[in-house]
Amino acid sequence: MRFKSWSLNYFLSLQILLLLLSASLFHFSSSLKIGETCSKDSDCEAGLRCETCAANGNTRPRCTRIQPIIPTSKVKGLAYNKYSWLTSHNSFAISNTKSATGTFLLAPTNQEDSVTSQLRQPAINVLKEVQNFLQSNPSEIITIFIEDYVTSSKGLTKVFNAAGLSKFMFPVSAMPKNGSDWPTVDDMVQKNQRLVVFTSVKSKESSEGIAYQWNYMVENQYGDEGMVDGSCPNRGESPAMDTKTVSLVFVNYFPTNPNSTKACAENSAPLIKMINTCVQQDGKRWPNFIAVDYYQRSDGGGAPEAVDEANGHLTCGCANIAYCKDGGTCDAPKLAPPPPAALSSSSNGKSSPQSNHAQKDNHNFLRRWLYGSFLMSILFLVL
Ligand SMILES: *[C@@H]1O[C@H](CO)[C@@H](O)[C@H](O)[C@H]1NC(C)=O
Ligand SMILES: *[C@@H]1O[C@H](CO)[C@@H](O)[C@H](O)[C@H]1NC(C)=O
Repeated sequence: MRFKSWSLNYFLSLQILLLLLSASLFHFSSSLKIGETCSKDSDCEAGLRCETCAANGNTRPRCTRIQPIIPTSKVKGLAYNKYSWLTSHNSFAISNTKSATGTFLLAPTNQEDSVTSQLRQPAINVLKEVQNFLQSNPSEIITIFIEDYVTSSKGLTKVFNAAGLSKFMFPVSAMPKNGSDWPTVDDMVQKNQRLVVFTSVKSKESSEGIAYQWNYMVENQYGDEGMVDGSCPNRGESPAMDTKTVSLVFVNYFPTNPNSTKACAENSAPLIKMINTCVQQDGKRWPNFIAVDYYQRSDGGGAPEAVDEANGHLTCGCANIAYCKDGGTCDAPKLAPPPPAALSSSSNGKSSPQSNHAQKDNHNFLRRWLYGSFLMSILFLVL
């Protein structure tokens, strides 16, 4: 195979991913709403699961969100940079065991592993799955961020070619260079330019025609330094957060060392607070990409709520995309206040302890897509 001949000096390290799949993938039968007391995932409506968040005192299992509203289902046809997408920073990838989703991880646990064939083989396989997905879903757009350790000449181009992805690539020449809007998602679909790829290696924009991420977006600091309340500094490679010559905004909110127990608390009010802080510091722009660890964990609305809020501001000027109404008005639905977070002694009775993580992550759509290795973000824009 041709792939083999050049793969020897090739090290593609990919990190995670995200994904939004259409609601049709869910087959939940029951219908408890967000915040309501549950005992298992299937008690809850589609897009919710049954979870506690002991880290912030929510010991009563309740339905929490795991899926944002697909923004193009509410407001169609806007520019690519007028939508926000959930990005799951793949904290699972640091383990060499099976992930909670039952999917084998592709990431090495250390540098030695990374030069074995176990890594190289998956790199092409992951991209082939992306190819299959684009091929069979002709109105979807995928964005990939590559933390790029490929050193061989034109290595990235070769692996994209080998995976059959070249024909879907959104051309660098069409990416806005001066802060203007991207093409609309409809244009991208019509032209079949549905794969947006960014590399972390600056020179590849001129050598291979693959977009250097920070020529097109600002991004805040990731890890612990990015979680300091009230501050949203740019990461080193990124232009200053308020740089207006780029049109995309990427916000990270996850600790340096992934912590699955704390993630539910971090992905709740503090995430939304940080996004609001970033908006104040990035020239009043709502993020297009919101990256967290364990994106399904929260004490209620979580990262999906944060994405819906960003989409509300981006698409229709409402505080949440759920409120967008035809004619540009906003309509906030009245929600009953949820019951208290802590489990009361009287309600303690029969409900089993919260489902374990393996069960929680046991949704097919996750199985299908959570195969990240170390630095790839795959974003699905579902039209
Ligand atoms: C940016 O460049 C595009 C195309 O080159 C041009 O049409 C547009 O007016 C420019 N916008 C700004 C804000 O300079
Ligand atoms: C995760 O956070 C919890 C709660 O703060 C802490 O007890 C635990 O040690 C942390 N785990 C890791 C792996 O850092």
